[in-house]
Amino acid sequence: MKICCIGAGYVGGPTMAVIALKAPDIQVTVVDMNAARIAAWNSDTLPIYEPGLDEVVKTARGRNLFFSTDVRAAIAASDIIFVSVNTPTKTYGVGAGRAADLRYIESVARTIAEVSTTSKIIVEKSTIPVKTAEAINQILAANSNGNGAKFQVLSNPEFLAEGTAVPDLFNPDRVLIGGERTPEGDAAVATLVSVYARWVPPERIITTNLWSAELSKLVANAFLAQRISSINSISALCEATGADVDEVANAIGKDSRIGPKFLKASVGFGGSCFQKDILNLVYLCESFGLPEVAAYWNHVVSMNDYQKRRFSAKIVRSLFNTVADKRIAVLGFAFKKDTNDTRESPAIYVVRDLLAEQANVVVYDPKVPAAEILSDVLGKGQANPQLSVAASAYEAAAGAHAIAIVTEWDEFKTLDFTKIYNSMHKPAFLFDGRNIADLAKLRAIGFRAHGIGR
Ligand code: UDX
Ligand code: UDX
Repeated sequence: MKICCIGAGYVGGPTMAVIALKAPDIQVTVVDMNAARIAAWNSDTLPIYEPGLDEVVKTARGRNLFFSTDVRAAIAASDIIFVSVNTPTKTYGVGAGRAADLRYIESVARTIAEVSTTSKIIVEKSTIPVKTAEAINQILAANSNGNGAKFQVLSNPEFLAEGTAVPDLFNPDRVLIGGERTPEGDAAVATLVSVYARWVPPERIITTNLWSAELSKLVANAFLAQRISSINSISALCEATGADVDEVANAIGKDSRIGPKFLKASVGFGGSCFQKDILNLVYLCESFGLPEVAAYWNHVVSMNDYQKRRFSAKIVRSLFNTVADKRIAVLGFAFKKDTNDTRESPAIYVVRDLLAEQANVVVYDPKVPAAEILSDVLGKGQANPQLSVAASAYEAAAGAHAIAIVTEWDEFKTLDFTKIYNSMHKPAFLFDGRNIADLAKLRAIGFRAHGIGR
């Protein structure tokens, strides 16, 4: 069997590497139109940082795992084609700011129709609006090259979280495969099930109709993000009342119906998926004439925007209502620990707010390159003398009036805060946007320390 995947990103790369590792008899080719990205996948420095991924790629690469820019050749040779291209939020026209931009999905479908001479199973890996499979089917049918190639479109959304992609892929809670409820659809589903069945127990492989699979991915992300916005809304109330949001989360999480996960109050959720997928869900609801449902989910995003703004506003307020020309050290820039991904990272918004208040912002992140930090905040090629990047947390904090912890990197838990305190202006402030620091200890050192909801 030959598999290819179009899109060598945070989803396509790790997913295909694990399939290749677990199924040595299947030839897996990952293709991308971005030549630099493919070169990186073929090098010693992979384009994405994921714990455990280097070993997986090194074992399978050159054996049955290949990275290439020859999209057409890979499609022509494959039995199964995964589509894992990006589906960003539309920035123009109808649905701008909310709907998914499906231009890459459509162009991939056209290419598949053009170059295929044998029948293919096409697997939607990208998160997409419900009914996208129908659009892909129509494009395939209208553009087939007359070779009699038949196509079956499946939806197989990926639930991995960044930073834990490899363990999530090795041991998924579930694999979801949706297909057309026809004999041909069932056969295609069975083929894809046989790929995952090499390492995923059968009871964790769920098969559904196409629309249920497409919708389940959006709904899973919406529910996860909703829990974070719910606890973050309570964090504001905790700050007003003297309750401690971590104690509240612990107390409610012991109820087995609520459960303890995803109740960590924070400066806000980030990442490429949550906001995009909820906006997409909102847009779907509106297009199907369900404005109340749309408004309900939209509020999960508004609450998250509020939480990010609330954090930077608190910094300004605490520093006697002005941060102009004060040095503020921002620790962490990735949207969560153990990844170099910065898409929709709350750090971007916090840094922009502080720059708008004319602070001197110095960012340190253990994995995100300096150029990425500058271009995320300012735009590609732009510079601002008030924004710089430090090579360590200590360097960032030296001479600062305040520290803001924005990503929960483990190394921030073991910093020598006495040394840091001694290098700062007084009073020295610390704002922990991830509730990882021991506030009592920091206060004993002399810090004016604030957490989220405590
Ligand atoms: C993306 C989406 O963000 C996510 O919603 C979806 O579920 C899966 O795809 P990710 O892998 O993180 O997730 O995206 P990204 O890192 O941007 O990778 C997409 C890749 O597709 C890029 O490397 C891009 O160059 C490539 N691509 C895009 C193509 O090869 N051809 C195209 O036509 C468009
Ligand atoms: C998410 C989903 O978890 C995953 O199933 C889906 O496939 C893609 O989207 P990801 O965005 O990689 O994965 O990371 P996740 O761990 O879900 O965190 C998202 C954001 O929420 C991060 O900014 C994180 O810091 C934040 N978060 C998470 C909280 O603020 N509190 C929590 O309790 C959990």
